[in-house]
Amino acid sequence: MSLKTMEDLFIHGLKDIYYAEKKLVQQLPKMAKKAESAELADAIEQHFKETQNQVTRLERIFRLCNMEPRGKRCPGIEGLIEEAKEIIEEAEEPDALDAGLLAAAQSVEHYEISRYGTLVAWGEELGMSDAVSLLRETLQEEKNADRLLSQLAEGKLNREAA
Ligand SMILES: [Fe+2]
Ligand SMILES: [Fe+2]
Repeated sequence: MSLKTMEDLFIHGLKDIYYAEKKLVQQLPKMAKKAESAELADAIEQHFKETQNQVTRLERIFRLCNMEPRGKRCPGIEGLIEEAKEIIEEAEEPDALDAGLLAAAQSVEHYEISRYGTLVAWGEELGMSDAVSLLRETLQEEKNADRLLSQLAEGKLNREAA
């Protein structure tokens, strides 16, 4: 796919995040299962449900663009998932595992916030108001997930690992 226009960039970004969200649907339950603290497991589990809905939202956006939903391999999310797996394999203490998992989960949210923020801006420039409102809903969920993870991090998780 050659990128010539703003539309091309928008579609490219859409395929990228679609791939990423589908990967996260596979990975988040595994991360939740590994978490020691029930609070962290619940937070990840809840965001897993939101993520499933985000995939559906993206499919609606593809249709608004008269396209079949299709992902494009996104090395960014693969790297972040790889890091989360490393932490799960290498953490030797439960508290360190949770602090590491939390940080990995938050990196994913930051990545998504950045991607959705860009898609909202590009969608606005392209005058795609229906797509933009769907993207904004997801962006808000990503921000909420990030905030919840921050609250957990500032709470006991990191302190216990210290
Ligand atoms: Fe997401
Ligand atoms: Fe997310």
